[in-house]
Amino acid sequence: MESKIRVLFVCLGNICRSPLAKALFLNAVELNKLSYKFEVESAGTSDFHRGEAPDARTLRNAQKHGIEIKNTARQFKRQDFARFDHIVVMDAQNYADVAALASNATDKQKISMLRDHDPAMKGADVPDPWFGGEEGFEEAYQIIRRSTLGLFDALR
Ligand code: 4NP
Repeated sequence: MESKIRVLFVCLGNICRSPLAKALFLNAVELNKLSYKFEVESAGTSDFHRGEAPDARTLRNAQKHGIEIKNTARQFKRQDFARFDHIVVMDAQNYADVAALASNATDKQKISMLRDHDPAMKGADVPDPWFGGEEGFEEAYQIIRRSTLGLFDALR
């Protein structure tokens, strides 16, 4: 049997954007009955929220869309390059922080921006909703939903 495709979503705190990306990607995987084929996790470049559940505002917004998020925040570590095939970051700062931990070109090639798969605006940042209001969480949801679906179609 072919080996699994391992995907790690990364943001700064691992409580808003990347746990949602994980949940939406897994939702697409499960709807397509492809759970045997994928392993999906998330992490943060910082350890600010290590051990925490996702932000209450992210959970509430996702629930409104019928999406349940299960995640315990953890920090991205160098060893993740060996464990994952695709390290998918939310913004240019995440990209720089993850790339700084890469040991070689093989590691670096695993890193991509989630919005490379956004049909609406390729390669842009997923804005960080942390400091804003509810509408920022809805905007992040819409961007992350269409981008994770694009990524899923590319990898499936
Ligand atoms: P995330 O959002 O990177 O999407 O999880 C943030 C969460 C927390 C902080 C920043 C961004 N913070 O500064 O604590």
